[in-house]
Amino acid sequence: MKAEVDPSLIVYFGGQYVPLGEARVGILTHALHYGTGVFEGIRAFWDEAGQELFAMRPLEHYERWKQNCGILRIDVPPSPVELCEITVELMRKNAFRTDAYIRPLAYKSAERIGVCPDDEDAFAVVALPYGDYLHSDRGLHASVSPWRRIEDNAIPARAKICGAYVNSGLASDEARRSGFDEAILLNESGHVAEGATCNIFMVRKGRLITPPVTENVLEGITRDSVMELARRELGLEVVERAIDRSELYVCEELFFTGTAVGIAPVVRVDHRPVRDGEIGTAARRMQQVYFDATRGHLPDYRKWLMPVYRSRKTPERDAIPFSGSGDQKADQPGRIAGAQ
Ligand SMILES: Cc1ncc(COP(=O)(O)O)c(C=O)c1O
Repeated sequence: MKAEVDPSLIVYFGGQYVPLGEARVGILTHALHYGTGVFEGIRAFWDEAGQELFAMRPLEHYERWKQNCGILRIDVPPSPVELCEITVELMRKNAFRTDAYIRPLAYKSAERIGVCPDDEDAFAVVALPYGDYLHSDRGLHASVSPWRRIEDNAIPARAKICGAYVNSGLASDEARRSGFDEAILLNESGHVAEGATCNIFMVRKGRLITPPVTENVLEGITRDSVMELARRELGLEVVERAIDRSELYVCEELFFTGTAVGIAPVVRVDHRPVRDGEIGTAARRMQQVYFDATRGHLPDYRKWLMPVYRSRKTPERDAIPFSGSGDQKADQPGRIAGAQ
């Protein structure tokens, strides 16, 4: 997210919709000094054929956010359903007709020195036009990071705690400066945990394998979607088990998943090709089915989507207002349509 953001963008801050330029926090804000915030990342996908913007699993994201805020004792008063309504309204006010990224942030807001947090909390929701996070059209070259994934007993990796992202930042900075696209972090047991900002899947002997949520990983919502799509649409057996580092070098396929990255194939790890160094069949098929599901082209997965313009009603998991859209296909497999 390196592009300049328009200061007239409307954001939700202090309980109101205000221009981004007016959403400011003080220099002594607790979260700024001590990392005591919890954020979320939600995608909205524009379907050109149906002229609709779909928020992807916003209810699950807000449920996870509120749960994770509880770990830091941050209170976010609105319910997940009310937060979905705020989000839809925000995108309508900004009149987005492109892929977007939604960034809710809750934080310890007291303006005083002292590490022990008190009970002053605040939250904001920002939505931005947003295209690719990683350019994975030809597959990524990843490296195993010298940095280890944070332990649950230090800072829980399952929550998107602001301070914890120093760990991801160190790992991805190291990887990029060394010429790689993304870092893979091992946990303190030496097992593969995840990418710096994404979960990881490998194909071995025809089975799709990902580390369980007890391996110090974020409990990814894309991870969950991919497991369901793999079983139901690709007919793959999905296994959650610990992954050794050296399995990365002998597997048949490897890919990252996440709200920002989507489905991002990895074709080289630590200068070794994954199989033949080309994007594999499972990753390609998963990219296509994920694209179709997130643009509302697959009726079975409309349960995940909240339309922004056709209805302001919030999702009730299995009863989401929807009328189908056209037959748009991913013009470039491996690439989520970019924001304009
Ligand atoms: C460290 C980490 N792992 C995994 C993910 C993927 O999670 P999700 O699919 O819910 O976006 C993210 C997403 O931000 C992340 O930061």
